[in-house]
This record gives sequence, structure tokens and C-alpha cells, in this order.
Amino acid sequence: MAKEKTLDDLFHDTLKDIYYAERKILKALPKMARGAQAPELKAAFEKHKEQTETHVERLQQVFDMIGKRAQGKTCEAIEGIIAEGEEIMDEFKGTPALDAGLISAAQAVEHYEISRYGTLKTWAKTIGLKDAVSLLDATLKEEIVTDEDLTKIAMAQANKKAA
Ligand SMILES: [Fe+2]
Ligand SMILES: [Fe+2]
Repeated sequence: MAKEKTLDDLFHDTLKDIYYAERKILKALPKMARGAQAPELKAAFEKHKEQTETHVERLQQVFDMIGKRAQGKTCEAIEGIIAEGEEIMDEFKGTPALDAGLISAAQAVEHYEISRYGTLKTWAKTIGLKDAVSLLDATLKEEIVTDEDLTKIAMAQANKKAA
């Protein structure tokens, strides 16, 4: 008979998914910062790269809390989202629409993270992992602020430049 799987298993599995994604994002952000035309956008990507380093560390702490080794599991979703971002960078290189495109790619990444962290935080509450809830929530808040900051940059300049 198949072993019963529970919310603990789902939590562990999803933790591996976002751990893989965060490390992938860590590698993508410097490329996006180099690609960005506006200094504000460059700075936003650089700032978020530093935050992302902390996101990886927080996840390692959560793995510790559940007594598991920090380990990633290939996340096809983030692979696809990042591949689309690279496509935009190639296809819109040197054009006035590049920054708007980069922002849209970055926001797809943030929304993926927001979805994952929202779920993990809720599950951690149910499982009774109180300390994990605070760590996951700290990251979730930073992803939300990053998303909002990107919208501000888009509205203040990138979209107009592209229009
Ligand atoms: Fe993150
Ligand atoms: Fe993020």
C-alpha cells in the first residue's frame, strides 16, 4: 500500500521547489541588472539580489527546522519564467521597450514567489511551525514590496519610454 502522504510532505516538497527557484533567481538577477537601461531599475534588481541571498538563507533555516537537508527540486515553472525573461532581453535589446519588458519578466518571477511563500506560510501555520511562519512571512513581504516597486518604476518611466 502506498505510504500516506500528508501536509508535511507537501510542505517539504514545495520548500524544495522554491529553494530551487530562489537559487535560479539569484543567478538571473545580475543579468537583469546588467540588461536594465534605467539606473533605478538596475538598482532595484541589485537590491533584490541581496534580498534573494537572504531568502535562500531563510529557506535553509526552515529546512533545519523540519530536520531536512536543504535541497532543491527542479522547478519547471521558474525555468520557463526565466527563459521568457531571457527571450525578452534578446528580442528587445537596445530598444526603448527593453526596461518595460524586463519589469514584466521580473514581476512574473515575483508573483510566482508570492504564490509559493503564501502557500508555505499558510501550511507552516497549520503544521505548527511557528518560527517558519515568521521567516516565510518576512520573505513574502519583501517579494510583495519588490513587486510594488517594479510597478512604480514601470509607471514613472519605463512604460512611457516604451510607448
Ligand atoms: Fe525571493
Ligand atoms: Fe523575489
